[in-house]
Amino acid sequence: MEEFSGGAVVRFGGDELTGVCEEPVPGPCAMVVFGASGDLTQRKLIPALFRLHANGMLSERFFLVGCARTVMSDEVFRAGLEEVLRRSGPVDAERWSSFASRLHYRALDYGDERGFRLLAAMVDGLEGRYGTSGNRLYYLAVPPTVFEPIIDNLGASGMADAAGAKVVIEKPFGRDSRSAARLDAALHRRFDESRIYRIDHYLGKDTVQNIVMLRFANSIFEPLWNRGYVDHVQITAAETLGVERRAGYYEQAGVLRDMFQNHIFQLMALAAMEPPSAFESERVRDERSKVLSSLRPLPLDGLDGHLVLGQYAEGEIEGKAVPAYRDEPGVAPDSKTPTFAAMKVHIDNWRWNGVPFFLRSGKRLRRRSTEVSIQFREVPHLMFGGALGDGEIGPNVLVLKIQPDERVLLTFQTKTPGARLCLRKVVMDFSYREGYGGPRLDAYERVLIDAMLGDDMLFVRGDSVESSWRYLTPLLDLIDGGGEEAPPVHPYPSGSWGPREADRLMGERRWWRNY
Ligand code: BG6
Repeated sequence: MEEFSGGAVVRFGGDELTGVCEEPVPGPCAMVVFGASGDLTQRKLIPALFRLHANGMLSERFFLVGCARTVMSDEVFRAGLEEVLRRSGPVDAERWSSFASRLHYRALDYGDERGFRLLAAMVDGLEGRYGTSGNRLYYLAVPPTVFEPIIDNLGASGMADAAGAKVVIEKPFGRDSRSAARLDAALHRRFDESRIYRIDHYLGKDTVQNIVMLRFANSIFEPLWNRGYVDHVQITAAETLGVERRAGYYEQAGVLRDMFQNHIFQLMALAAMEPPSAFESERVRDERSKVLSSLRPLPLDGLDGHLVLGQYAEGEIEGKAVPAYRDEPGVAPDSKTPTFAAMKVHIDNWRWNGVPFFLRSGKRLRRRSTEVSIQFREVPHLMFGGALGDGEIGPNVLVLKIQPDERVLLTFQTKTPGARLCLRKVVMDFSYREGYGGPRLDAYERVLIDAMLGDDMLFVRGDSVESSWRYLTPLLDLIDGGGEEAPPVHPYPSGSWGPREADRLMGERRWWRNY
């Protein structure tokens, strides 16, 4: 490990195939987590921090204070986290104990200003002990209903003004444009935009970042990446999981709030954005934001051909019978919450005029797969027409497979070997993992490191959140209103690719089927 001003650099890789990569290690940092006994902290945050610690990517001078309502000692807090961690695999006892010794706990009522003053004193004291002053993260892993009291009390207790204090918040950033604007106003009363880190964990995925690298670090794709050559773009985020134990949240959210407003729209922004003049946070975020502010509003009086909603019925996933959404614990038996949506979206700018973006996401679908596929136009003249009989020449497709199978594919036509004149479609296939033996950061590890480093490129800026809510809110109002004009929610069998109506949305085109 090499030292550098902000901490250190871990080097790995180095031959022609792997390339060289430098992973900066953040300097000293204090982290205060609100919602410390919740699911997100236990399942995502702590495991990610522990892996960073185990891989030498967390400063020796890092500590965390967990806050929640329940009264418990540091020891009980640590033991609870260890137990959750052990459920997903063996935990190295020595590493855990060196990590756990930096975890502290304080019971807190989020509406109690005095409690926050005591917390402030505790964090100040620990900062002195660990020597971390100047870099603090307040991480809100809490339901949106308590965002505001926490933000207000961070202000009232003086914690918001501490040197180097930033606030990290998780989606949902509101549930429509009105509530998002209120939340934003509350945040901005205490923190300026440069200190607000809104997490969209999709932006932390390596393969999502690769969309920008592939587009702008190669000269062969970008000249074709526009309405002159692209017929349409498809973005799919298919899950096999159902609602799990999150019905309380999901019933109020549905797929449009849960996946579209954030993850799917961010994928679209990366696939559609203009090249920034430099790979710098504000410039990249400007370009992402411009895409979202250029979305053509949906025609609410004629949604046919623009939107299909669905809800999973019973069916089979990987050979196992699974219940319908309405039979899941905590879901209303007559729930109309959509668990699937497919949408045709237009971006009104020079590059994309006339090129539809087909977006699709759903739970309990056939396979887990997230991908962006660029479908190019067909050849302008079919000179092989006669010679091939009725054979069709399929268009070229570039598929960026985000997860779980991380690859880049390009389909093209070649001659079938042999005497006959016959074409066949072949696939050039690059596996993201192949030839790379270095360490990998998962999405949470990536965004945590960046928040500690103060690099906000992979976080969502307020104007992007505003644009995506502005686009979706009229539709959500229509759906939530439940009136006659509300779009129907079509049932689809679990284990299928969603309702048939989603295929009709494509017209003559077809959804890209997993290769
Ligand atoms: C979360 C949604 O933001 O993303 C979940 O709330 C969804 O409903 C999850 O399952 C998908 O994330 P990933 O990383 O598993 O694709």
